[in-house]
Amino acid sequence: MLVNFTVIGGNASKGLAKRIARRLKAKYVDADTRTFPDGESKITFRHNLKKSVVLVVQSTYPPVDTNLLQILSIISEAKKISSKIYAIMPYMGYARQDRQFLSGEIVTMSVVAKMLQAAGAKKIIAVDIHSKTALRHFKIPTENVSAIPELAKYLKKLELKNPIVVSPDTGGSLRAKKFADILKSDSITLKKSRNRKTGKVSIRSTKADVNGKDLIIVDDIISTGGSVVKATQFLKKQKCKRIFVVCTHGLLIGDAEKNIKKAGVTQIISTNTIPRSISKVDVSGVIAQAVQ
Ligand code: R5P
Repeated sequence: MLVNFTVIGGNASKGLAKRIARRLKAKYVDADTRTFPDGESKITFRHNLKKSVVLVVQSTYPPVDTNLLQILSIISEAKKISSKIYAIMPYMGYARQDRQFLSGEIVTMSVVAKMLQAAGAKKIIAVDIHSKTALRHFKIPTENVSAIPELAKYLKKLELKNPIVVSPDTGGSLRAKKFADILKSDSITLKKSRNRKTGKVSIRSTKADVNGKDLIIVDDIISTGGSVVKATQFLKKQKCKRIFVVCTHGLLIGDAEKNIKKAGVTQIISTNTIPRSISKVDVSGVIAQAVQ
């Protein structure tokens, strides 16, 4: 059956939303957003929309809570014209707060899930969500699509000679393996630990044989860049050649990009789940495929 889609682009993801609409040959509706001096958002969209499945596209990168409230508002308005609203959240903020790590912590991901459902979302689609546990907080259908094949295709074009793919932590080991399989390369995993109180990262590993090799560090998120910097410093000590860094979500908080380059990384590549200068890989195709 031919499904009629309408794509609404939230302020944080207009470029990506337009690309998704083009791929689906769907009507694109702009959620025009103004910010008042006190930080409140004023959103306007004109919706003489025909009966359709409505895709509301908005990543919740910083300002996370503002972007979250905007998608909630758009969904709640779209509910007036459609009972089928999919929240497309290519980067889903709060997914790292999917469980209690220290006693007393609030699992905010569960609050986010309740709010999206209450607003009227009938399905959630995310890209390389930090952990699938985050999606278990929803009672509506969810789907996590992977940008890893697209990222690997991009790296393939750089024609590196026998590169080794590196996961900076055990949690990302399968991701790195999947990436390496596409490149027909080997993968290794470093052992990262993070102090849950200070956030400080340290890398431990048995000596990896990376001497003279080009390396590709693959991670889901680069936030402060601390993990990648530590991994780079560790690998440089093992006398590797060049280091390329690949991630799905390039948050790049503060001096992250500068610090990563300073540590000796040749190139950083991310997808457009978060629009940044390093966003070289488009995820509109994998998202469009998931909704069809
Ligand atoms: C953590 O487990 C994630 O996969 C990323 O490695 C982490 O979120 C990156 O954060 P940062 O760039 O601040 O080290």
